[in-house]
Amino acid sequence: MYKTHTCGELRAANVGEEVTLAGWVHRRRDHGGVTFIDLRDRFGLVQIVADESTHPEAHKALEAARNEWVLQVHGKVRRRPQGAENPNLPTGEIEVVVDRVNVLNPAKPLPFTINKDDGVDENVRLKYRYLDLRRENMRNNIILRHRVVKFIRDYLDKRGFIEVETPILFKSTPEGARDYLVPSRVHPGEFYALPQSPQQLKQLLMVGGIERYFQIARCFRDEDLRGDRQPEFTQLDLEMSFVDRREDVMDLMEEMYTALVKEITPHKRILQEPWPRIPYQEAMDRFGTDHPDLRFGLELRDITDLVRKSNFRVFTQAIERGGSVRGINAKGMGTLSRKEVDALTDFVKQYGAKGLAFFYVEEKGFRSPIVKFFDEETLKAIAERMEAESGDLLLFVADADQDVVYDSLGRLRVHLADMLGLRDPNVLAFAWVIDFPWAFWDEEEQRWDPSQHPFTMPLTEDLPLLETDPGKMRGAQYDMVLNNYEVAGGSIRIHDRALQEKIFKLIGLDMETARERFGHMLEAFEYGAPPHGGIASGIDRLVMLLADAPNIREVIAFPKNQAARDVMAGAPSPVSPEQLEELHIRVVMPKKENS
Ligand code: AMO
Ligand code: AMP
Repeated sequence: MYKTHTCGELRAANVGEEVTLAGWVHRRRDHGGVTFIDLRDRFGLVQIVADESTHPEAHKALEAARNEWVLQVHGKVRRRPQGAENPNLPTGEIEVVVDRVNVLNPAKPLPFTINKDDGVDENVRLKYRYLDLRRENMRNNIILRHRVVKFIRDYLDKRGFIEVETPILFKSTPEGARDYLVPSRVHPGEFYALPQSPQQLKQLLMVGGIERYFQIARCFRDEDLRGDRQPEFTQLDLEMSFVDRREDVMDLMEEMYTALVKEITPHKRILQEPWPRIPYQEAMDRFGTDHPDLRFGLELRDITDLVRKSNFRVFTQAIERGGSVRGINAKGMGTLSRKEVDALTDFVKQYGAKGLAFFYVEEKGFRSPIVKFFDEETLKAIAERMEAESGDLLLFVADADQDVVYDSLGRLRVHLADMLGLRDPNVLAFAWVIDFPWAFWDEEEQRWDPSQHPFTMPLTEDLPLLETDPGKMRGAQYDMVLNNYEVAGGSIRIHDRALQEKIFKLIGLDMETARERFGHMLEAFEYGAPPHGGIASGIDRLVMLLADAPNIREVIAFPKNQAARDVMAGAPSPVSPEQLEELHIRVVMPKKENS
């Protein structure tokens, strides 16, 4: 080894010892005849020093070294002179007086500084990710990620789960996104699909008698990217046999993640234990989303019934077309200027709202250009419903499309909380959202679309609705939410061929297609498939929230950028004509617009 100690481990107790260290030049300071370097490795920083008068050669070498050179140094640990200690550094009581320096590798001037996190363009960071990883923030995130995954593995091992790897080259497993396809060389015209999740495989493991499975599994989905989405991401994927109640899976996850937070991020506080369990419709009505942030109020209220007969056409027309009028009481925000309210209007317009109606609540009543459209009684009822007090600002969206009302207000709610500073990152508001409708009606495709995936069991008491009113049938499914993110989703599964076939039919798969795509599942259900259920949790999102990172790229060593590119290696990239030929593939480029 090039080193006897790491740069982070030397303490006052080591004073007098001879040590060999190796690492990077984090920072260098020359003090006329004495040169100091903070030497860095993954484990920490230590100050090394060479004095021209006592160790001229070592001094010369340190003086010549530049940031990010890799050095090996030999020297003796001594206590720092009084007043020169650094209480912020674990090694701050000591320094190493260097007598020998070996330059292992110099470094060119860097594209950005490693020793401070100043605002560097993200694409530059991603291009030189191997340098970015040396920075403190990234290093801490990667270490945190390791500790989270290690905790999960140990915890589940103790609970009788075993980790099983499942194939990456597989067949399409739908989770609602497009597939990434891999052409087969040996079978011309045929393709593997990269799994959007190991969903089918873990169910088949249950048929295979594994009983308690988990995997830290890579999943692949070709979908529009956002801060919390990557084309490839990691799930804690889990499945258990002989579970019949949703609670069997939910309780396990809740216990595990509660223990994880307490051990790995003890500075964070879980808002509510046990975690609240919120029915889907209630989540939508109160928060406008199925993955609410529960750290603050600002809940939505429905005033449809109060304004149905008003003279404000914007409201009445939306209601007549089957929509609703809902609003938020922005507590104490009556101090916002008209300009600031206009900015809120622009904010909700991004999410499809056509406008934002507002009332300033004052001692003598409401102030707004639209007050004139409502009689006294209605205004009073609105004030009561919204629990309005002087100094508040009431904000409303009306739309014929309920989804627009929910989505725009749900996002406005979070935006207002940000403005009010109500989203403390050290508070973790875990919750379960349950009782999802099994399917939503897809107007475009004119068919039922599963809200989770087609393998989810309907709630037993709702099964009769499958034939009569499928939109009302709820699924035996559950989503885990945390601070405005969905961090896990799962369900009790169908393990019966006849029911699975009925479900495929409901979602518009004819028997032939169903058998071609999922024949192996249907067949497996006929050989003694045990009842089973499971869940999958987004590791990237969980670690992002535990790390207080702004997006999941910050907790992935080598992520894709927002255009789904790896800008470091340059992927995706064209391949040679020979490779294409071997794969029996011809590329037809899309016609470029405007050229
Ligand atoms: P689901 O599709 O809900 O369920 O995915 C589970 C969790 O994975 C995370 N996630 C993502 N993270 C980053 N980038 C993405 N593109 C992305 N997509 C999803 C989310 C989500 O909650 N097979 C089912 C699980 C089951 O039924 O057991 C599934 O994959 O945190
Ligand atoms: P207008 O009649 O378009 O001048 O709108 C009058 C007020 O109603 C403005 O403050 C608009 O932002 C607001 N408004 C318009 N459309 C909607 C809507 N769909 N929901 C809520 N407020 C709206």
